[in-house]
Amino acid sequence: MTQTNRKPFVGGNWKMNTDAAAASSLIDAVIGSLNTDSVDVAVYPPFVYLREIAAKASGANILVGAQDCWHEGNGAFTGEISTDMLKDCSVSTVLTGHSERRHVIGESDELVNLKTKAAIAAGLIAVLCVGETLDQRDDGQTDAVNETQIRAGLAGVSKESLGLVVIAYEPVWAIGTGKTATPEDAQNAHRTIRELIASMYDQQASDAMRIIYGGSMKPGNASELMAMPDIDGGLIGGAALKAADFHAIIDAGVSQTA
Ligand code: 13P
Repeated sequence: MTQTNRKPFVGGNWKMNTDAAAASSLIDAVIGSLNTDSVDVAVYPPFVYLREIAAKASGANILVGAQDCWHEGNGAFTGEISTDMLKDCSVSTVLTGHSERRHVIGESDELVNLKTKAAIAAGLIAVLCVGETLDQRDDGQTDAVNETQIRAGLAGVSKESLGLVVIAYEPVWAIGTGKTATPEDAQNAHRTIRELIASMYDQQASDAMRIIYGGSMKPGNASELMAMPDIDGGLIGGAALKAADFHAIIDAGVSQTA
C-alpha cells in the first residue's frame, strides 16, 4: 500500500471508441485475466454499450463507469443521461469535467460542479478531472488552474462525501499526444493538489484522497509515475483500448501495494 494506505485506482476511459463487437471483446479480454483486488479497476465505455458491459462485468472485480452524466433528474433534457439511468445500467462511477468536455464541448466549472454533486448524491464515485492546457503550463499556471478547477468542482461537497471522490490530474497537453508529464512534474502537481485538499478540508481528508494521473500513461511509464508518493493510479485513454496494455498498467498499480 502507499504510505497512507490509499488503494490505487486505475480507470480505462474508452472515450468515443469501439463498436458493439469491439466493446464486447475488449471487456471480455479485460475481465479475462484480471485477478487483483488490491487495485480498484474501472472501465468507462460509451453510454450505448454500458448495459452490456455491466452485465458482462457483474461478478468480476471491476467497476463500470460513464464518461459523463447530466445533473438533473429525469425530464426534458434531450440527449442527456441522468444518474438514475446510469444506476439502472449498474454503473457505479462517472467522470466529471474531463478535459475534452471542458475544452471541446465547453463545459464550465459550474456545470462540472453540478455534475459532480449529482454523481455523489446518487452514490456514484465521481472522478473529477482537472488539468492545465499547454499555454497555461507555459505561463506557470498549472497549480492555479488545478486549484480553480478543484475549488469550483468540489464547491458544496462535504468532507463526509469525499469517499466518493477521486481527483484525476490530466494535463491537457499530455492527453492523446504521447507526451507524458515527467514523474517529478506530475508528483509536484499532485502534491500541491493534496495540500489544497488539506486546506479546503483537513489533513485526514487530504491523506485519504486518491489523486490519479492521466495523459499518455502506458505500460512503459506507469510504474515510475505510480511510484511517486502522491500518484495513486491512472486514468488511461489510448492504452485502455488494448487489454494487454491496460493489464500491464493495472499490474504497475498492484506492484505499488506489495
Ligand atoms: P490518453 O491516455 O490517450 O492520453 O488519454 C488520457 C485521458 O484523457 C484519460 O481520460
